[in-house]
Amino acid sequence: MATGDPAPRHDSAHLHVSGRALYADDIPLPANALHAAFGLSSIAHGRIREMDLAPLRRLPGVVAVAAAGDVPGVNNYSSTHHDDPIFAQGVVQYAGQPLFAVAANSYAAARKAARSGRIEYEPLPAILDIRAALAAHSYVLPSAHLVRGRPHEMLPQAARRLRGSLCIGGQDHFYLEGQIAIALPQEDGTILVHSSTQHPTEVQQIVARALGKRSNDVTVQCRRMGGGFGGKETQPALIAAAAAVLSYSTGRPIKLRVDRDDDMLMTGKRHDFLADYEVGFDTEGRVSALTLMLASRCGYSADLSGPVNDRALMHIDNAYYLEHVEVVSHRCKTHTVSNTAFRGFGGPQGMMVIEQILDEIARTLRLDPLDVRGANFYGVDSRNVTHYGQIVEDNVIHKIVDELAGSSCYRERRRALAAWNAGNPVIKRGLALTPVKFGISFTATMFNQAGALLHVYSDGTVLLNHGGTEMGQGLFTKVAQVVAAELGLPLSAIRVSATDTSKVPNTSASAASASSDLNGKAAQVAAQNIRQRLVRYACEAYEVEAHEVRFHDGLVAVGEREISFAELVGRAYQARVSLSSTGFYKTPKIEWNKETMRGRPFFYFAYGAAVSEVAIDTLTGETQLLRVDILHDVGTTLNSAIDLGQIEGGFLQGVGWLTSEELWWNALGELQTHAPSTYKIPTARDWPKQVSVRLLEGEPNRQDTIYRSKAVGEPPLMLALSVFHAIRDAIASLGPEGTLPDLAAPATPETVLRAMRALSPTAPA
Ligand code: MTE
Ligand code: MOS
Repeated sequence: MATGDPAPRHDSAHLHVSGRALYADDIPLPANALHAAFGLSSIAHGRIREMDLAPLRRLPGVVAVAAAGDVPGVNNYSSTHHDDPIFAQGVVQYAGQPLFAVAANSYAAARKAARSGRIEYEPLPAILDIRAALAAHSYVLPSAHLVRGRPHEMLPQAARRLRGSLCIGGQDHFYLEGQIAIALPQEDGTILVHSSTQHPTEVQQIVARALGKRSNDVTVQCRRMGGGFGGKETQPALIAAAAAVLSYSTGRPIKLRVDRDDDMLMTGKRHDFLADYEVGFDTEGRVSALTLMLASRCGYSADLSGPVNDRALMHIDNAYYLEHVEVVSHRCKTHTVSNTAFRGFGGPQGMMVIEQILDEIARTLRLDPLDVRGANFYGVDSRNVTHYGQIVEDNVIHKIVDELAGSSCYRERRRALAAWNAGNPVIKRGLALTPVKFGISFTATMFNQAGALLHVYSDGTVLLNHGGTEMGQGLFTKVAQVVAAELGLPLSAIRVSATDTSKVPNTSASAASASSDLNGKAAQVAAQNIRQRLVRYACEAYEVEAHEVRFHDGLVAVGEREISFAELVGRAYQARVSLSSTGFYKTPKIEWNKETMRGRPFFYFAYGAAVSEVAIDTLTGETQLLRVDILHDVGTTLNSAIDLGQIEGGFLQGVGWLTSEELWWNALGELQTHAPSTYKIPTARDWPKQVSVRLLEGEPNRQDTIYRSKAVGEPPLMLALSVFHAIRDAIASLGPEGTLPDLAAPATPETVLRAMRALSPTAPA
């Protein structure tokens, strides 16, 4: 079914650009509302000897202070492992950990009081990074181990071998709207919470648990977030629970808007990774065996580190067939903030490792990295089983890479670049094409379900609600398009209401890029239910057959006559036809065995590729992205404008991760980069002058997804690997052929300088 206009604008675009879109912070507060702020641990690890908060209660404007002992229910916001206290109790495990929260008459008074807490600690030894955690066998979860084939037998037999390692930095989400919750006590002990969250149901459950209440006592609402990027999957439960606890003890509404610095100190980020590998390959660069150790910094608790690291492990193949492979994945416990979901969910880190391996193989063999990548791609009918046992049934990577290499003039530019570098001693250029293959579905099969609730009012207007959340990615628009298409209505006839746990229950997080797949299908079911009832009614009322009733452009053709949708609905209402329906969907075909690490975790794969060209200044280490060409697979697009926006935004967010966003902790475990003054996200200026972003055409999803579309939220972030490899390419040009630059991510100017210095004694000191 066609969705009409292929690219209607985001349903809130007019509100975003005029500043009238309501975010949680814009919701008017009742007159008796209080503002809250967290008091944070100043040390990374230690026993709390004394925490006397009584003096805080006497500070001007302060109404209440809550710490661990004031939580009426369970003082924990972890949904799985029970290892995340809302307020630390007994010990602190990272600098920035919440100890207590203050409620006051003003935001300023709350923040001032929160900083005045006098806490005495008995310091304990802190493990701060991955190497230290590995040495101490300090893990939050058991290590995972996956073997396919006979890597140890095949390695010694390989024509060539190399060993290497790679450090990959983390990333702060830097959502423009920070973490926020508003807790509003309602009658009879119930509570309404506005939360900026990708996961309203989890906030509902954790608020209920913290207050010693039940799920039906708590309603959570979210109209939109000003960005989430994975940082609002588990973290909002902490903010909402603290607000709820204060509102419980005061009986008053509480607004807890976390200050940016506190937000960056308190909340989890992308996991940084360390990888050590040994790879065997033939003279064409084909990998014959690989052994790999992955270790990530999880922070002090498990949070989503299990599934994040699983996904890293499942994406070490990227688009390549690895016949004999062993991966060990360590989930390191450190006394730093607990890392969490971030766009790509570990996949980007896994893919970084194999891309470096193939790049090094190519340089060692003096081949073009693109040829070595091509030689290792999954086959279509053979060499097509992933290391975890899923058959790759929808391989379009050959088509994408061939088309893109041609349209971007990769080969010609490779030659031109060599000539440029030969003639320019200071500015060096680099070029790289990297592919993306990303698995779509939650690896925990249970989460691949969604619900929708659709009302048609007697005037023919439609109100849609579903379990997904809007964070700027255009989900509400896409799902509304589905309903419009099913009912033959213009998109303007559909209004989408805030995500609300009292409308659609038991929702999964809006994550894993699966929200339009899941909620689009659920909404389709609801719309089809209503359409069927209307058809049945029309058949009776107008004495026609079902196939004679057709819905299009706000009209209903009933046999020979044509009436408006509103008129049919009005009549159906009078005839007492139910005009409201739920819809439910669960993803078919998927299954995953966590013990054996085998199965079909993904319904399908999304693909893409990018060619990036950079210039580096060998005197300063600065890099500039000159040109990028992207070809990305979204199946049959649901909305090309939104999809292109996701691709551009995801790509640039990936560029930030790999080039400028550096998280830096000092030797005491204090994060020093907790504000935009020290943490550099990309800006409009970083967008290259020459850009081509295109959607792959003529490749509908081979699986029965909503209108054969594909998920688009996360995969484009990994297109940025091409930028990192273009930088590596430029650095390598400084050495003799076969040079393997030792470049860590992010490739900041300092890191680039260091890598240049390491390989050429003539590079500036
Ligand atoms: N796009 C915008 N504008 N803002 C966001 O916060 N989050 C990303 C991606 N795109 C995000 C975004 C992440 S991490 C995911 S998982 C998906 O959107 C979630 O939405 P979807 O399932 O509808 O793609
Ligand atoms: Mo996205 S990291 O799955 O919220």
